[in-house]
Amino acid sequence: MRSTPTLKAVATVRDTWSPSSWRSFEALQQPDWGDDGRLEEAFARLKTLPPLVFAGEARQLQASLGKVAEGKAFLLQAGDCAESFHDFSAVAIRERLKILLQMAAVLTYGAALPVLKVGRIAGQFTKPRSSPWEDAPDGTQLPSFRGHMVHDDPPTFEARVPDPDRMVQGYHQSTATLNLVRAFTKGGFADLNQVHAWNQAFVASSSQGRRYEVMASEIERALAFMAACGVDVASTPQLHQVDVYTSHEGLLLPYEEGLTRRDSITGDWYDCSAHMLWIGERTRELDGAHVEFFSGVHNPIGVKLGPTTTPDQALELAERLNPERIPGRLTFVARMGAGRVQAALPALLRAVTDSGHPVVWACDPMHGNGFKTTSGRKTRDFDQIMLEIEEFFAACRSEGTWPGGVHLEYTGDDVTECLGGSEHISEEQLDTRYETLCDPRLNGRQSLDLAFRLAELMRRDTLS
Ligand code: PEP
Ligand code: CO
Repeated sequence: MRSTPTLKAVATVRDTWSPSSWRSFEALQQPDWGDDGRLEEAFARLKTLPPLVFAGEARQLQASLGKVAEGKAFLLQAGDCAESFHDFSAVAIRERLKILLQMAAVLTYGAALPVLKVGRIAGQFTKPRSSPWEDAPDGTQLPSFRGHMVHDDPPTFEARVPDPDRMVQGYHQSTATLNLVRAFTKGGFADLNQVHAWNQAFVASSSQGRRYEVMASEIERALAFMAACGVDVASTPQLHQVDVYTSHEGLLLPYEEGLTRRDSITGDWYDCSAHMLWIGERTRELDGAHVEFFSGVHNPIGVKLGPTTTPDQALELAERLNPERIPGRLTFVARMGAGRVQAALPALLRAVTDSGHPVVWACDPMHGNGFKTTSGRKTRDFDQIMLEIEEFFAACRSEGTWPGGVHLEYTGDDVTECLGGSEHISEEQLDTRYETLCDPRLNGRQSLDLAFRLAELMRRDTLS
């Protein structure tokens, strides 16, 4: 096994860190903002704006993730692939939140553990791309779409010109989104009886209703039992309100630096654009700007790990991002693809566990399972998504590691972007309502299908 960096080397990294130190490293996946001074103006503006989240909330999330690392809680991190500047309404936010709460209720029962709810929301406006060019519908080549915080989505050259003011617009949309999420989650919308009633309505209308009814009626009995014991859901804050945290891929470093603030209580730096940030599969180079930036902010950090990740890379990322080995600081999100988990994941799990790093292991079953249909639609198959989750659980079990969570792309809307699920969406149906700005998302019903299946898997796991 490789030798771990000495403490001295780690201390040197920390001494030289500042919110802008990433600027002397190579930053991948950054748009060409032009050199007319507008990037500097937008950055200066971001630096004056109030933080979106508070350091104390990020610390609270980190402590809860610490429980996940210990195997005493489960992480549900889910939301849109790319949030949109156009599709921005109270109804869209409410529907997304509703599905998140429904999934969390089912998983809480399945795992018999607290489920941490972290949205890909209020800041998920940028996309890394494997190629700088994409095919326009007319067959010509266009700059790839990188998210609404960079440029607009129509397939024209004009729309794809990066505009730094969009970072400021993204900040304002995130503020409004978070405001509504806070209001809904604290104002009664998250009441457990209500969430359960929504789940019952889903079960009643699902073609898999019989299968899911077993679990739904067990939850019903558990609620009736609590009521019989005198627990009044409406007046018990834990059953009436929930904490929903925000997260996004920390891709655009001027945006992240612009919202980084020193916490007045601890003196530590926090990236106040979200509670949790993750580094994507395409920007996790050890000597790159993203790892440098996130090594110095004190939020909980995720890193996506694809099938080519080596045990040494995982260990070095853990040392670099969490030298003090704080439980909950670092989440590794494995996105291997169904059929590739067994070959790629166990060695990583083993190396990290042997090193003693308290990492949360989560499974992103979305990004390794994309493919194009014959008609050219980007899609994912529900069965492959489920299969990767099952393989992830099996790999964790065989290595004695806690399968700590899932990371999903979904929308509350009734879109047709992923194949399968209990409604059996077929290739021909994808055109009916295909709306994503980037990757195909599970629709509301497919998300609930997944939650019920995952809850069944967790129950089998705990019982065996
Ligand atoms: C994403 O989460 O949207 C994403 C692009 O993931 P990855 O970095 O794993 O490809
Ligand atoms: Co995506």
